[in-house]
Amino acid sequence: MTENQKSVYSRKNPLSAKILSKELLTSKIDEKKTWHIEIDLIGSGMEFTPGDSLAIFPENNPDLVNELLKLLNFTGNEIVPTPSKIETDLRNALTKDYAITTPDKKLLRAVAEQVNNHTLSELLAPEKKQELNNYLWGREVIDLIIENPSVKFSAEEFVSLLKKLNVRLYSIASSLKHSPNQVDLTVAVVEYESHNRSRQGVCSSWVSERTEIGDQAKCFITPGKGFRLPDPDDSSPIIMCGPGTGVAPFRAFMQERKATDAKGDAWLFFGEIHEDGCFFYENEWEEYLNDGTLNKISTAWSRDQEEKIYVQHKILEEGKEFWSYLERGAIFYVCGDAERMAPDVDKALHQIIQEHGNKSEDEAIEYVNELKSLKRYRRDVY
Ligand SMILES: Cc1cc2nc3c(=O)[nH]c(=O)nc-3n(C[C@H](O)[C@H](O)[C@H](O)COP(=O)(O)OP(=O)(O)OC[C@H]3O[C@@H](n4cnc5c(N)ncnc54)[C@H](O)[C@@H]3O)c2cc1C
Ligand SMILES: NC(=O)c1ccc[n+]([C@@H]2O[C@H](COP(=O)([O-])OP(=O)(O)OC[C@H]3O[C@@H](n4cnc5c(N)ncnc54)[C@H](OP(=O)(O)O)[C@@H]3O)[C@@H](O)[C@H]2O)c1
Repeated sequence: MTENQKSVYSRKNPLSAKILSKELLTSKIDEKKTWHIEIDLIGSGMEFTPGDSLAIFPENNPDLVNELLKLLNFTGNEIVPTPSKIETDLRNALTKDYAITTPDKKLLRAVAEQVNNHTLSELLAPEKKQELNNYLWGREVIDLIIENPSVKFSAEEFVSLLKKLNVRLYSIASSLKHSPNQVDLTVAVVEYESHNRSRQGVCSSWVSERTEIGDQAKCFITPGKGFRLPDPDDSSPIIMCGPGTGVAPFRAFMQERKATDAKGDAWLFFGEIHEDGCFFYENEWEEYLNDGTLNKISTAWSRDQEEKIYVQHKILEEGKEFWSYLERGAIFYVCGDAERMAPDVDKALHQIIQEHGNKSEDEAIEYVNELKSLKRYRRDVY
């Protein structure tokens, strides 16, 4: 979808699309669960361009809904309004309409006032923002109720203190030119332990593990701001850096470039924890290498040896060739983790420009700024 093109499907009018297939890409390992998911678009007319994302409306975990209902002495049959003011029963509203993990400030305030929880009241002062964030890290609505057991709400009051359950975005991992009737995703299930409870991210666990083949997912396209391939007859090379699920849009890029017989060279940097068990789409990359759609793949397996090896280490190792790609006008795409990977890859990019381009620190910064202004350094990080 181009930025200006209107889709019939939107947040207000999502497509209900059938889950076609799901494959656990990490079935050989225990450390993480990343899924390849295919969603049916047949007859929908939904269109997208590689670089776009799919926004999905998730559902909350029914076990968590049950636990909350029990703790708050609700049956689940109480009638409440949804955020869009349609009446439904409380169980349905807590499953589909309201965020029951991340607590809203309204709920924190209501709990603090009702049970005279001074510690919580103090955390809500404007100057205590950081302390409040620290307190909330790893805490969910359920923790607040457990930690303040005398709290009581009517069903209507309770939902009025919750945020609306929002969509989550997933980079599209397929091209309509390759698979005209479907949209593919690469989804890592968010899982962690906090305050002695196992937690799961709402949408990553729903779409991967609580849906069955044939179930419907409500979704719409969000355009990838500037995360776009050059024209197929543009001979500029592309360098793609996508560790983990960051590789998703680059699968779409490769499918599109093969279908359009794109001219420029293409180089992929991929990283995951283990080569055996996490080399997502390995056979497809091999085919693209064989048919010339992909010229080179460089991989970094972080947990296959004692010291961590990450994509930026591979980028630095290949610095001379990386620099020659840049000097040939390459577009550098980075997708995946925003917090740790993207800043480290950015540092590696500056380092290569300094070392192989014989530039000072300031000149390297200028070079990167120039890349950005020419839209030759594009990031889609989350
Ligand atoms: C443009 C874009 C593209 C994306 N593409 C992809 C993609 O292709 N594949 C993919 O898997 N994801 C992708 N994401 C991320 C995705 O949108 C979701 O954010 C992700 O799946 C988590 O959503 P969730 O509902 O499962 O988790 P949520 O219910 O939203 O939970 C996540 C929250 O849990 C908390 N949390 C997480 N870990 C911990 C911890 N260790 N301790 C305490 N708290 C913690 C944090 O508050 C975190 O914000 C993309 C995001 C964007 C913006
Ligand atoms: N906030 C967090 O603590 C946290 C943690 C994990 C994932 N996430 C998020 O979970 C989602 C899915 O993650 P994912 O499964 O796609 O992959 P990911 O967790 O980003 O991991 C992919 C690969 O990147 C490596 N990596 C870790 N730190 C890196 C760094 N600084 N530079 C380069 N590579 C680095 C990982 O190694 P190692 O894991 O061996 O270090 C792994 O080999 C993303 O949204 C990500 O941001 C967040």
